[in-house]
Amino acid sequence: MIYAQEKKVSQTLWQLNELMPMSNTEYALWLKLLEDRTGITLPELRKSFLLSKLSIRMQELGITDYKSYFAYVTHGKAGRVEWEILVDRLTIHETRFFRDAKTLSFIKHAYLEKLNFEQDNPSIHIWSVGCATGEEPYSLMMYIDKYMADKNEQCYLAVTASDISHDALAVGKKAVYHQNRFTNVPEEYINHYLENVGKDHYLVNDSLRKRICFNRLNFINLDSSTVGKMDIIICQNVLIYFKRETRIQILNQLVKHLLPGGVLILGAGEITGWQHPEINAVKYNGVLAFQRVQSQLECIQQPGYDA
Ligand SMILES: C[S@@+](CC[C@H](N)C(=O)[O-])C[C@H]1O[C@@H](n2cnc3c(N)ncnc32)[C@H](O)[C@@H]1O
Repeated sequence: MIYAQEKKVSQTLWQLNELMPMSNTEYALWLKLLEDRTGITLPELRKSFLLSKLSIRMQELGITDYKSYFAYVTHGKAGRVEWEILVDRLTIHETRFFRDAKTLSFIKHAYLEKLNFEQDNPSIHIWSVGCATGEEPYSLMMYIDKYMADKNEQCYLAVTASDISHDALAVGKKAVYHQNRFTNVPEEYINHYLENVGKDHYLVNDSLRKRICFNRLNFINLDSSTVGKMDIIICQNVLIYFKRETRIQILNQLVKHLLPGGVLILGAGEITGWQHPEINAVKYNGVLAFQRVQSQLECIQQPGYDA
């Protein structure tokens, strides 16, 4: 076993050593292309990441130098199709079910517990921005659905899940995951929301799948997005790939999609010092969240939290 791991590591190092060098001028061109088309910035340290992804794809296509591949990607219809494939390779889709327990606890205290069931059945519109392969939005749905079931209440739940990666979205739409993806998921959720479809794989059940809509959306096109107004927008572990100026542009666009009183939840530390006239920071330990003002602003506070 150890031998196999060592062999894998040494093979990876061997492959990296074999990577064709790229001049700084050429590297700057690739960085600019990536940033212009996706907003993503790659620090110098990630040069080996870019080189290895490009090399693998070039090998698949039988292209032997970066210059020819750059020309291929940036020209004509074939280039546009190739770019879509490359973007899938250059984006990081790391995610997990029930990744951030504090976020779920925040949603419960800050949002679910404030719903007014005396009136009509409430509706909750959620947008998972940068949803990767779907684990984040499905976790939210399971959590909220179970909350409602435990309270013997009902709500209309509709979830939009968007990402730039076609491959990642395809996994989310299929909604079939290997059992080792569920290590964080409490047993009662597995029993209730997942159906064993054989070979250690589970399908998210139909009641959740029919309430989620996966959409391809690039952050740089947020201003022309047709996504509606949301009660909760979650954008976690995404902004880290963008420079501060781009992060702020993205956040300012996301605010436009928040209903009054709606909350925007980011990954801890993903922005500092961001201010917006219609947004208040929310105080909740370990969670970075903002609320769109409403006429009577109610400040969300964690029970027992001292401001
Ligand atoms: C690390 S994953 C985060 C997944 C999930 N939000 C979570 O926290 O588990 C980051 C996602 O952001 C997406 N992404 C990166 N650049 C994007 C862009 N310009 N537009 C839309 N999505 C983008 C990637 O494709 C990737 O799936």
